[in-house]
Amino acid sequence: MVKICCIGAGYVGGPTMAVIALKCPAIEVAVVDISVSRINAWNSEQLPIYEPGLDDIVKQCRGKNLFFSTDVEKHVAEADIVFVSVNTPTKTQGLGAGKAADLTYWESAARMIADVSKSDKIVVEKSTVPVKTAEAIEKILTHNSKKINFQILSNPEFLAEGTAIQDLFNPDRVLIGGRETPEGAKAIQALKDVYAHWVPVERIICTNLWSAELSKLAANAFLAQRISSVNAMSALCEATGADVTQVSHAVGKDSRIGPKFLNASVGFGGSCFQKDILNLVYICECNGLPEVANYWKQVIKVNDYQKTRFVNRVVSSMFNTVSGKKIAILGFAFKKDTGDTRETPAIDVCKGLLGDKARLSIYDPQVSEDQIQRDLSMKKFDWDHPVHLQPASPMSITQVSVVWDAYEATKDAHGICILTEWDEFKNLDYQRIYNNMQKPAFVFDGRNIADVEKLREIGFIVYSIGKPLDSWLKDLPAVA
Ligand code: NAI
Repeated sequence: MVKICCIGAGYVGGPTMAVIALKCPAIEVAVVDISVSRINAWNSEQLPIYEPGLDDIVKQCRGKNLFFSTDVEKHVAEADIVFVSVNTPTKTQGLGAGKAADLTYWESAARMIADVSKSDKIVVEKSTVPVKTAEAIEKILTHNSKKINFQILSNPEFLAEGTAIQDLFNPDRVLIGGRETPEGAKAIQALKDVYAHWVPVERIICTNLWSAELSKLAANAFLAQRISSVNAMSALCEATGADVTQVSHAVGKDSRIGPKFLNASVGFGGSCFQKDILNLVYICECNGLPEVANYWKQVIKVNDYQKTRFVNRVVSSMFNTVSGKKIAILGFAFKKDTGDTRETPAIDVCKGLLGDKARLSIYDPQVSEDQIQRDLSMKKFDWDHPVHLQPASPMSITQVSVVWDAYEATKDAHGICILTEWDEFKNLDYQRIYNNMQKPAFVFDGRNIADVEKLREIGFIVYSIGKPLDSWLKDLPAVA
């Protein structure tokens, strides 16, 4: 029986290993983590992350061929294949601070693997890492082990939160990079055999190590770049009377461009896009390619611009002040169908409104009050470090209340900001909401999910990103 161990029971390690266990009943899979609370949650009824379909799979496999444990060393020692799926946040201090990936967690995992291994192992980079990380890891492993053979593979994960299970069941591709040696080829084949249990072989791409490492950074940079491109267009649409939805539809019909990932919004978020682009920028700079670095940096700048533009629009629409006004925030997660708030645009938007002294009433179906308060009191970059390893912030922001119902959040509010595209926000009783709000009542739709015409008929003043402005907003000075 092949034994797999995955170090890191997070958003990637947990779902990925659960699917491997489900699809490969003859493989024993152990997911290990240094966080006791996270492992306890994986072993409980309330899993530590929300992901549609995940609960069922974990319940089917847990205790049979899927185990969650804090006994990291034991499971690593016993494994034939060790996946490393620890977090790789942006460095907050020292060389490359604010850009380079912090490989502290990775290095400590590698040293531990070297320490406890007694048999040959395939070590798989699942985390997103800078190009050439495998080389560093290889050195750590070979210099610290006792004549044990380690083969390093890069197998970056392309799942998207919110659709992780679907993505894992039916991936566009699985990418495996390895050394171009007979041992490397053997290791690639061993990992290929695992995925081949359910992924058609033609979708398993094998490359050299550096191509696999760089492909993950490149894929995220391309995805984020599409969002920034359409968001940049949304500003121009508002200025000209074009409708960004119509523009994206027309543009996306070009088969060379394609229709996906062209929705204008308040900005991208999540733990990966910004971190991976910053990392790419740093690698370009280190390789003497400032023009390439600046090109990718612009993707993040446009994302920041979009969030600022949204806040400015809210404040300027409401007579240039939101001081003391209640504003309902619908949605806090960085996208629908996840409870993940890492780098969610909601943090910047809320902080912007709080800076203008608004009172916020926040509702998200999957994010707890504790999480929201913690996010709003964090410094930049704190988000990228494992939250469960930090003590909860003792400071609670008194301007913020978190409620468990959209109707409660909007009661007596002057305005509503829709910041996550949860399906339930499309079907709210907006007439009831309007009746219970202060007038004039505003809706600022940061995800373009609301039926603008219907809301205007009810009496709302509506701003929807990249859509023609209604007369109220048109008469105001332009927003930068
Ligand atoms: P996460 O923060 O949810 O999970 C990482 C886990 O690793 C934490 O539970 C932490 O306690 C554990 N850990 C850290 N050091 C450890 C050690 N030495 N021994 C044992 N456990 C340790 O992170 P997430 O989101 O799962 O991301 C992991 C990697 O996958 C990152 O490099 C990320 O960029 C990449 N990735 C993330 C995606 C996502 O959607 N979240 C998608 C694709 C890749």
